Amino acid sequence: MLNNILIGVFVVVLAGAGGFKLLTLPQRLGPDQIAAEGSGDAVRGERIFWAGGCVSCHAPSRAEGEDGLRLAGGDPLKTDFGIFHGPNISPHPDDGIGGWSLADFANALQRGVDPEGRHLYPAFPYTSYVRMTKEDVADLFAYLKTLPPVAGKAPANELTFPFNIRPAVGLWKLAFLGDGSPVADLPADASEAAHAGRYLVEGPGHCGECHTPRGFAGAGGLETGEWLAGAPNPEGRGRVPNITPAKAGIGSWSEKDIAYYLESGFTPDFDSVGGPMVEVQENMAKLTDEDRAAIAAYLKAVPPRGDGEAAAER
Ligand code: HEC
Ligand code: HEC
Repeated sequence: MLNNILIGVFVVVLAGAGGFKLLTLPQRLGPDQIAAEGSGDAVRGERIFWAGGCVSCHAPSRAEGEDGLRLAGGDPLKTDFGIFHGPNISPHPDDGIGGWSLADFANALQRGVDPEGRHLYPAFPYTSYVRMTKEDVADLFAYLKTLPPVAGKAPANELTFPFNIRPAVGLWKLAFLGDGSPVADLPADASEAAHAGRYLVEGPGHCGECHTPRGFAGAGGLETGEWLAGAPNPEGRGRVPNITPAKAGIGSWSEKDIAYYLESGFTPDFDSVGGPMVEVQENMAKLTDEDRAAIAAYLKAVPPRGDGEAAAER
């Protein structure tokens, strides 16, 4: 009897382990989702690099000028789950991604899978980068290759149990990684600029990763019904503000106000940008007026949230 129970438990555990293994296998991009090797254009890629804010997590924040392009690893990223360290993504052959193919890079950026098949944590916002075009991914890769190779590995992550079980990220991705748009269609009269801004915000800009609340006590996916409606600050105190066109958000800001904020860091009341938005704003300042205007147009076209249900469902 006892034997049977033991065998039963053993079988269940084995099946569980097998199931876990199966469900956590790395899911890679198909060949048709990856641009041709070598097709990237570094000049175009620089725009995507700033829109994507790679420096914010892969270079130290105190680095200025050219030093800011030494992507040997970023400041520690403190979260409720432990401390992440953005790794070395400089083109160094051993310590960075100098030996990677475009397919390796695309799978990291859009599937959160490294060349060894390990799952990457979504602190790396591939959940947004998954919406980028394969051309933009190739251009970005070409640009990264023009940056200085830097030796040295970033420290390992220091995560608490159970978040330190990397294969479990595979399960998380099954539930939360998709390339659909987080908002229903924009209003029929939305401008071309708003549509261009949509790509920049939902894709490379990954604005929703901070400005949208997450389910499962902050450990789940973004709550798309609350898209850009503000969220607890993932790095600690305070809240990330609502940036929808609601009273509770930035409804009183004009498109010009938003674009000016992204360029200069000044709000319409001449307050200056603070907290984790500082680096985002510095990156946005490197884009063109046209790109900032597009982002502003999109932020005015998304559904307003946070003024109560009636307003939200308008
Ligand atoms: C919010 C912070 C953040 C931003 C922004 C960010 N990354 Fe990362 N990135 C990370 C973290 C953290 C990891 C490591 C995740 C892990 O340990 O599983 C990572 C991992 C990577 C890896 C895998 C490296 C390896 O050795 O496995 C690549 C490639 C990468 N990022 C490229 C980029 C590029 C390109 C951009 C800009 C488009 C970018 N990242 C923006 C935080 C970020
Ligand atoms: C790393 C997290 C993070 C990301 C990514 C991020 N933001 Fe922010 N954002 C913040 C925080 C925090 C603030 C509040 C800044 C402050 O206190 O001055 C903010 C403020 C703002 C404001 C001003 C709102 C107000 O009421 O003052 C706008 C507009 C804005 N963000 C737009 C964007 C856009 C557009 C993107 C994507 C390109 C983006 N943010 C990406 C964290 C983030």
